[in-house]
Amino acid sequence: MSKSFVLSSRVINNKINHPSFEKRFSHNPSNSLNDLDLFRRGQPFDLYKELRESAPVFFHPPMHTDPEPGYWVLTKYKDIKTVSMNPKIFSSQYSTGNLLTLGSEENRHPKLFKSTIDHMLNLDGEMHLNLRKEHMPFFKHGYIDELQKKVSLKVSDLLDEAEKLNEFNLVKEISQQLPIFTLSEILGIPESDRQKLIEWMEFLELAQYFTLEQIKQNEEGITDTTPDPALVEMFNNMIDEMFDYGRFILNKKKDKPENDLLSAIANAKIEGEDLSQEFLDGSWLLIVFAGNDTTRNTMSGGIKLLHENPEQKQLVLDDFERVSGLINETVRYVSPVIHMRRTSLEETFIGEQKIGPYEKIALWYGAANRDPEIFDSPDEFNILRENADQHLAFGIGRHTCLGKPVALMQLREFYSQFLSRFPYYQITGDWKVAPNNFVHAIQEIPIRLKK
Ligand code: HEM
Repeated sequence: MSKSFVLSSRVINNKINHPSFEKRFSHNPSNSLNDLDLFRRGQPFDLYKELRESAPVFFHPPMHTDPEPGYWVLTKYKDIKTVSMNPKIFSSQYSTGNLLTLGSEENRHPKLFKSTIDHMLNLDGEMHLNLRKEHMPFFKHGYIDELQKKVSLKVSDLLDEAEKLNEFNLVKEISQQLPIFTLSEILGIPESDRQKLIEWMEFLELAQYFTLEQIKQNEEGITDTTPDPALVEMFNNMIDEMFDYGRFILNKKKDKPENDLLSAIANAKIEGEDLSQEFLDGSWLLIVFAGNDTTRNTMSGGIKLLHENPEQKQLVLDDFERVSGLINETVRYVSPVIHMRRTSLEETFIGEQKIGPYEKIALWYGAANRDPEIFDSPDEFNILRENADQHLAFGIGRHTCLGKPVALMQLREFYSQFLSRFPYYQITGDWKVAPNNFVHAIQEIPIRLKK
């Protein structure tokens, strides 16, 4: 990769094919995975089950604004694993990489669309391995052990503050705060700038919905309810601010490197050359998004699950050694990353379905994690489940989540301290989830810590 390497400009015109071979399964699903409102109620596990049972490799119509043909939906554990483990046949780099679609050209956000492509999640082969290596020192045991001490203190501070409030939104006061703190420590972001990251994340979670709604309404000629222009402007300003800040801090770290991940990214040399500006923007977006949302939603999801399953909570309270089981089972059950995408590069089979070259394939992790072939009574939340750690929520294969040890460490600190201090907390109202089919984004959980 050289300074002039810009993945987005190379792959954007890669062609995606219609299915070349006859569809093995015909099925008329009860709902559409493109319906973002469906995801406001949590992930559609019933729909996953229906597809897994009736059409485990199902050709789904395209997203509303997608000029390309639709995509294959995989809902079986073994198919998702096979695809993830065969990067030579199933590329992360071809076309728009891991994203299902960028929508039609005229509707793309000028800055956001490039950066959603130009990062390591969307690279294949040696280039991917080389860039991943640059990140590695900040995800190794020694580093994480040191980080854990700071995380532990932060959890304790957050719980002290929360105790004073007693009743509050768990997401806002705790689940959003901890991953931002941890990530900022790894990246080297000064304390005074950290709150901005939270605001940017909130907007990014809504970006998918916001764009689709705007397009639908324009198409239907509805003018009185189209998004408020002030809101559109605010959204665009937020995106600009996020990238401007990324450039500012990466430049600073390039000039005066410190022992942090942003300094490593800013000074990464691949094949002897610096990363292009596009790749720096993309790496900034990836790390900020990947490192935040995922852990946040697992934290919130686990607290909700324990409230709904008091006998499981009691198992932890009886023996805190069971926190490990709680973490694995929560990540399996919540599956905060909803899907990733690959593209076939040659003729191949997935299960019984023959696939041609350059077809889109979406891996629905939440569906894999409820596959009864692997997990007994998969819809039960059971912290004693022996094989819970076989879940695919972190992906599998060469793109397996780099931040997995950091996520697990934070979850351990959070659940251990929270449950020992507030074992009898109550969830006092309905949760609110963002309309998003890429990340399961919990926005609100009203909670009371003590009677
Ligand atoms: C419960 C929390 C998390 C979950 C469920 C999760 C899930 C995932 C998934 C599914 C992938 C893509 C795998 C693939 O395409 O095969 C991924 C990649 C990645 N994650 Fe996470 N993640 C979590 C937390 C984190 C954290 C805390 C960080 C950083 C601090 C992080 C950084 C990354 C990065 C950099 C990649 C790209 C790896 C590559 O392309 O080689 N993640 N994650």
